[in-house]
Amino acid sequence: MQVDELSASSMCELMQGLECRLCVQNLSVYYGEFKALEDVNLMIPCKRITAFIGPSGCGKSTLLRCFNRMNDLVPGSRVEGSILLDGVDIYSEKYDLTELRRKVGMVFQKPNPFPKSVYDNVAYGPKIAGIKKKSVLDEIVERSLRRAALWDEVKDKIYSSALSLSGGQQQRLCIARVLAVEPEIILLDEPCSALDPIATQRIEDLLVELAGKYTIIIVTHNMQQAARISHFTAFMMIEKQGDPGRIIEFDETSRIFTNPENEKTERYITGRFG
Ligand SMILES: Nc1ncnc2c1ncn2[C@@H]1O[C@H](COP(=O)(O)OP(=O)(O)OP(=O)(O)O)[C@@H](O)[C@H]1O
Ligand SMILES: [Mg+2]
Repeated sequence: MQVDELSASSMCELMQGLECRLCVQNLSVYYGEFKALEDVNLMIPCKRITAFIGPSGCGKSTLLRCFNRMNDLVPGSRVEGSILLDGVDIYSEKYDLTELRRKVGMVFQKPNPFPKSVYDNVAYGPKIAGIKKKSVLDEIVERSLRRAALWDEVKDKIYSSALSLSGGQQQRLCIARVLAVEPEIILLDEPCSALDPIATQRIEDLLVELAGKYTIIIVTHNMQQAARISHFTAFMMIEKQGDPGRIIEFDETSRIFTNPENEKTERYITGRFG
Protein backbone atom coordinates (compact mmCIF):
# COMPACT_ATOMS: atom_id res chain seq x y z
CA MET A 1 0.00 0.00 0.00
CA GLN A 2 1.40 3.39 -0.95
CA VAL A 3 2.11 6.08 1.55
CA ASP A 4 -0.71 8.39 0.45
CA GLU A 5 -3.13 5.54 1.05
CA LEU A 6 -1.95 4.89 4.57
CA SER A 7 -5.08 6.31 6.09
CA ALA A 8 -6.62 4.76 9.16
CA SER A 9 -9.40 3.04 7.24
CA SER A 10 -7.17 1.55 4.56
CA MET A 11 -4.77 0.42 7.23
CA CYS A 12 -7.59 -1.36 9.07
CA GLU A 13 -8.50 -3.10 5.85
CA LEU A 14 -4.92 -4.20 5.38
CA MET A 15 -4.89 -5.67 8.87
CA GLN A 16 -7.89 -7.85 8.03
CA GLY A 17 -9.24 -7.96 11.53
CA LEU A 18 -5.87 -8.37 13.23
CA GLU A 19 -5.72 -6.63 16.56
CA CYS A 20 -3.55 -3.50 16.50
CA ARG A 21 -2.83 -1.96 19.86
CA LEU A 22 0.06 0.14 18.63
CA CYS A 23 -0.72 2.96 16.28
CA VAL A 24 1.65 5.65 14.96
CA GLN A 25 -0.02 8.90 13.92
CA ASN A 26 1.62 11.72 11.95
CA LEU A 27 4.94 11.09 13.62
CA SER A 28 7.92 13.31 12.85
CA VAL A 29 11.24 13.08 14.69
CA TYR A 30 13.90 15.77 14.97
CA TYR A 31 17.47 15.71 16.22
CA GLY A 32 17.94 19.40 16.95
CA GLU A 33 17.14 21.22 13.71
CA PHE A 34 17.51 18.07 11.67
CA LYS A 35 14.30 16.30 10.72
CA ALA A 36 15.04 12.60 10.57
CA LEU A 37 11.52 11.27 10.03
CA GLU A 38 8.37 12.82 8.63
CA ASP A 39 4.72 12.00 8.80
CA VAL A 40 4.87 8.36 9.71
CA ASN A 41 1.48 6.64 9.95
CA LEU A 42 1.45 3.01 10.83
CA MET A 43 -0.46 0.33 12.67
CA ILE A 44 1.49 -2.52 14.19
CA PRO A 45 -0.42 -5.81 14.32
CA CYS A 46 -0.37 -7.73 17.61
CA LYS A 47 1.43 -11.05 17.85
CA ARG A 48 2.96 -10.71 14.42
CA ILE A 49 6.39 -9.71 13.14
CA THR A 50 6.65 -6.32 11.44
CA ALA A 51 9.90 -5.50 9.63
CA PHE A 52 11.33 -2.07 8.82
CA ILE A 53 13.59 -2.11 5.78
CA GLY A 54 15.26 0.61 3.75
CA PRO A 55 18.63 2.20 2.90
CA SER A 56 21.06 3.25 5.59
CA GLY A 57 20.14 6.53 7.28
CA CYS A 58 16.45 6.50 6.32
CA GLY A 59 15.35 6.46 9.96
CA LYS A 60 14.58 2.81 10.73
CA SER A 61 16.36 2.82 14.10
CA THR A 62 14.94 6.25 14.87
CA LEU A 63 11.41 4.98 14.30
CA LEU A 64 12.04 1.78 16.26
CA ARG A 65 13.41 3.74 19.22
CA CYS A 66 10.26 5.85 19.33
CA PHE A 67 8.25 2.84 20.49
CA ASN A 68 9.95 2.76 23.88
CA ARG A 69 10.99 6.42 23.86
CA MET A 70 14.68 5.63 23.69
CA ASN A 71 15.18 8.75 21.61
CA ASP A 72 14.29 10.76 24.72
CA LEU A 73 17.84 10.00 25.83
CA VAL A 74 19.28 11.95 22.88
CA PRO A 75 19.71 15.60 23.85
CA GLY A 76 17.84 17.90 21.46
CA SER A 77 15.62 15.17 20.05
CA ARG A 78 11.96 15.95 19.63
CA VAL A 79 8.88 14.13 18.48
CA GLU A 80 5.72 15.47 16.86
CA GLY A 81 2.59 13.38 16.43
CA SER A 82 1.72 10.44 18.59
CA ILE A 83 2.15 6.75 19.21
CA LEU A 84 -0.92 5.22 20.78
CA LEU A 85 -0.58 2.10 22.88
CA ASP A 86 -4.03 0.83 23.79
CA GLY A 87 -5.38 4.21 22.82
CA VAL A 88 -3.08 6.22 25.10
CA ASP A 89 -0.31 8.38 23.65
CA ILE A 90 3.01 7.10 25.02
CA TYR A 91 4.35 10.63 24.51
CA SER A 92 1.73 12.20 26.73
CA GLU A 93 3.02 13.51 30.05
CA LYS A 94 0.92 11.18 32.10
CA TYR A 95 2.40 8.08 30.51
CA ASP A 96 4.54 6.15 32.98
CA LEU A 97 7.92 5.68 31.31
CA THR A 98 8.96 2.79 33.57
CA GLU A 99 5.78 0.96 32.66
CA LEU A 100 6.39 1.67 28.97
CA ARG A 101 9.91 0.26 29.10
CA ARG A 102 8.59 -2.86 30.85
CA LYS A 103 5.91 -3.37 28.23
CA VAL A 104 8.21 -2.63 25.31
CA GLY A 105 11.54 -4.47 25.48
CA MET A 106 14.48 -3.85 23.19
CA VAL A 107 17.28 -5.97 21.73
CA PHE A 108 20.23 -4.24 20.07
CA GLN A 109 22.50 -4.89 17.14
CA LYS A 110 25.44 -6.07 19.19
CA PRO A 111 24.67 -8.49 22.01
CA ASN A 112 25.15 -6.45 25.19
CA PRO A 113 24.84 -8.71 28.23
CA PHE A 114 25.88 -7.23 31.56
CA PRO A 115 29.30 -8.45 32.77
CA LYS A 116 27.53 -10.69 35.25
CA SER A 117 26.42 -14.30 35.35
CA VAL A 118 23.86 -15.71 32.92
CA TYR A 119 21.47 -15.98 35.89
CA ASP A 120 21.97 -12.38 37.01
CA ASN A 121 21.42 -11.07 33.50
CA VAL A 122 17.98 -12.64 33.33
CA ALA A 123 17.06 -12.02 36.98
CA TYR A 124 18.06 -8.35 36.77
CA GLY A 125 14.75 -6.96 35.47
CA PRO A 126 12.51 -9.00 37.79
CA LYS A 127 14.71 -7.98 40.76
CA ILE A 128 14.38 -4.31 39.84
CA ALA A 129 10.63 -4.90 39.65
CA GLY A 130 10.77 -6.00 43.28
CA ILE A 131 10.85 -9.79 43.09
CA LYS A 132 13.16 -11.02 45.86
CA LYS A 133 12.27 -14.64 46.48
CA LYS A 134 14.97 -16.93 45.12
CA SER A 135 12.55 -19.70 44.11
CA VAL A 136 10.45 -17.24 42.08
CA LEU A 137 13.54 -15.78 40.43
CA ASP A 138 14.83 -19.27 39.64
CA GLU A 139 11.55 -20.06 37.95
CA ILE A 140 11.59 -16.85 35.90
CA VAL A 141 15.20 -17.39 34.85
CA GLU A 142 14.54 -20.94 33.69
CA ARG A 143 11.31 -20.04 31.90
CA SER A 144 12.87 -17.07 30.12
CA LEU A 145 15.93 -19.03 29.04
CA ARG A 146 13.69 -21.81 27.76
CA ARG A 147 11.55 -19.36 25.80
CA ALA A 148 14.69 -17.88 24.31
CA ALA A 149 15.77 -21.38 23.23
CA LEU A 150 18.92 -21.14 25.34
CA TRP A 151 18.21 -23.22 28.44
CA ASP A 152 19.65 -26.51 27.19
CA GLU A 153 22.90 -24.83 26.22
CA VAL A 154 23.43 -22.93 29.47
CA LYS A 155 21.65 -24.88 32.19
CA ASP A 156 24.94 -26.23 33.51
CA LYS A 157 26.62 -22.87 33.59
CA ILE A 158 24.04 -20.34 34.60
CA TYR A 159 26.38 -18.95 37.26
CA SER A 160 29.20 -18.46 34.73
CA SER A 161 29.83 -15.09 33.16
CA ALA A 162 27.48 -14.19 30.32
CA LEU A 163 30.53 -12.90 28.48
CA SER A 164 31.80 -16.48 28.14
CA LEU A 165 28.88 -17.35 25.83
CA SER A 166 29.12 -17.25 22.04
CA GLY A 167 27.74 -14.20 20.20
CA GLY A 168 24.58 -16.05 19.19
CA GLN A 169 24.06 -17.32 22.73
CA GLN A 170 24.63 -13.81 24.10
CA GLN A 171 21.98 -12.46 21.75
CA ARG A 172 19.50 -15.13 22.87
CA LEU A 173 20.43 -14.22 26.45
CA CYS A 174 19.55 -10.59 25.68
CA ILE A 175 16.20 -11.82 24.36
CA ALA A 176 15.73 -13.91 27.55
CA ARG A 177 16.52 -10.80 29.60
CA VAL A 178 13.75 -8.95 27.80
CA LEU A 179 11.30 -11.86 28.15
CA ALA A 180 11.95 -12.06 31.91
CA VAL A 181 9.97 -8.88 32.55
CA GLU A 182 6.97 -10.16 30.57
CA PRO A 183 6.89 -7.52 27.84
CA GLU A 184 4.14 -7.28 25.28
CA ILE A 185 6.19 -5.78 22.50
CA ILE A 186 9.77 -6.61 21.52
CA LEU A 187 11.87 -4.24 19.42
CA LEU A 188 14.93 -5.60 17.67
CA ASP A 189 17.43 -3.42 15.82
CA GLU A 190 19.39 -5.59 13.37
CA PRO A 191 19.72 -8.31 16.00
CA CYS A 192 21.59 -10.72 13.74
CA SER A 193 24.06 -8.44 12.01
CA ALA A 194 26.89 -9.50 14.34
CA LEU A 195 26.04 -13.20 14.06
CA ASP A 196 27.04 -16.04 11.76
CA PRO A 197 24.40 -17.75 9.56
CA ILE A 198 23.75 -20.60 12.01
CA ALA A 199 23.28 -18.28 14.99
CA THR A 200 21.11 -16.06 12.75
CA GLN A 201 18.93 -19.01 11.84
CA ARG A 202 18.41 -19.83 15.51
CA ILE A 203 17.34 -16.26 16.27
CA GLU A 204 15.00 -16.25 13.27
CA ASP A 205 13.40 -19.53 14.38
CA LEU A 206 13.06 -18.12 17.87
CA LEU A 207 11.40 -14.91 16.67
CA VAL A 208 8.90 -16.85 14.58
CA GLU A 209 8.06 -18.90 17.65
CA LEU A 210 7.81 -15.85 19.92
CA ALA A 211 5.51 -14.07 17.48
CA GLY A 212 2.65 -16.27 18.67
CA LYS A 213 2.84 -14.55 22.03
CA TYR A 214 4.52 -11.18 21.47
CA THR A 215 4.27 -8.26 19.09
CA ILE A 216 7.63 -8.03 17.36
CA ILE A 217 9.15 -5.17 15.38
CA ILE A 218 12.48 -5.81 13.70
CA VAL A 219 14.82 -3.56 11.75
CA THR A 220 16.87 -5.53 9.29
CA HIS A 221 19.22 -4.87 6.40
CA ASN A 222 18.81 -8.43 5.36
CA MET A 223 15.90 -8.53 2.97
CA GLN A 224 15.82 -12.31 2.89
CA GLN A 225 15.44 -12.17 6.63
CA ALA A 226 12.50 -9.78 6.40
CA ALA A 227 10.95 -11.96 3.69
CA ARG A 228 11.51 -15.14 5.69
CA ILE A 229 10.18 -14.14 9.07
CA SER A 230 8.01 -11.04 8.97
CA HIS A 231 4.27 -10.85 8.31
CA PHE A 232 4.22 -7.14 7.49
CA THR A 233 6.95 -4.91 6.06
CA ALA A 234 7.40 -1.15 5.98
CA PHE A 235 9.78 0.11 3.31
CA MET A 236 11.34 3.43 4.27
CA MET A 237 13.61 5.79 2.37
CA ILE A 238 14.77 9.36 1.86
CA GLU A 239 13.37 10.43 -1.48
CA LYS A 240 15.59 13.46 -2.07
CA GLN A 241 18.87 14.26 -0.39
CA GLY A 242 18.21 16.47 2.62
CA ASP A 243 14.64 15.26 2.98
CA PRO A 244 13.53 13.36 6.06
CA GLY A 245 12.92 9.62 5.94
CA ARG A 246 9.38 8.45 5.22
CA ILE A 247 7.47 5.26 4.88
CA ILE A 248 7.09 4.64 1.18
CA GLU A 249 5.06 1.48 1.35
CA PHE A 250 3.60 -0.75 4.03
CA ASP A 251 1.97 -4.04 3.31
CA GLU A 252 1.94 -7.73 3.92
CA THR A 253 5.48 -8.97 3.49
CA SER A 254 4.57 -11.37 0.70
CA ARG A 255 3.09 -8.48 -1.26
CA ILE A 256 6.07 -6.15 -0.68
CA PHE A 257 8.45 -8.80 -1.97
CA THR A 258 6.42 -10.14 -4.88
CA ASN A 259 4.22 -7.35 -6.06
CA PRO A 260 4.98 -3.96 -4.50
CA GLU A 261 2.87 -1.01 -5.58
CA ASN A 262 5.59 1.58 -5.55
CA GLU A 263 8.39 1.31 -8.08
CA LYS A 264 10.87 2.63 -5.50
CA THR A 265 10.06 -0.36 -3.30
CA GLU A 266 10.52 -2.61 -6.28
CA ARG A 267 13.87 -1.04 -7.14
CA TYR A 268 15.06 -1.49 -3.57
CA ILE A 269 13.96 -5.07 -3.09
CA THR A 270 15.43 -6.09 -6.43
CA GLY A 271 18.72 -4.54 -5.37
CA ARG A 272 18.75 -1.71 -7.88
CA PHE A 273 19.49 0.95 -5.27
CA GLY A 274 20.17 1.46 -1.58
N1 LIG B 1 21.55 10.53 18.11
C1 LIG B 1 21.46 11.18 16.95
N2 LIG B 1 21.78 12.47 16.86
C2 LIG B 1 21.70 13.13 15.67
N3 LIG B 1 21.28 12.57 14.52
C3 LIG B 1 20.96 11.28 14.56
C4 LIG B 1 21.02 10.51 15.77
N4 LIG B 1 20.63 9.25 15.47
C5 LIG B 1 20.35 9.24 14.17
N5 LIG B 1 20.53 10.45 13.61
C6 LIG B 1 20.31 10.81 12.20
O1 LIG B 1 18.98 10.47 11.83
C7 LIG B 1 18.95 9.87 10.53
C8 LIG B 1 18.33 8.50 10.64
O2 LIG B 1 19.21 7.66 11.39
P1 LIG B 1 18.85 6.19 11.81
O3 LIG B 1 19.96 5.71 12.66
O4 LIG B 1 17.49 6.15 12.35
O5 LIG B 1 18.87 5.47 10.38
P2 LIG B 1 18.80 3.93 10.00
O6 LIG B 1 17.79 3.79 8.93
O7 LIG B 1 18.65 3.11 11.23
O8 LIG B 1 20.25 3.68 9.37
P3 LIG B 1 21.16 2.35 9.39
O9 LIG B 1 20.52 1.40 8.45
O10 LIG B 1 22.48 2.83 8.90
O11 LIG B 1 21.21 1.85 10.81
C9 LIG B 1 20.39 9.87 10.03
O12 LIG B 1 20.59 10.98 9.20
C10 LIG B 1 21.22 9.97 11.29
O13 LIG B 1 22.44 10.62 11.05
MG1 LIG C 1 19.84 1.72 12.22
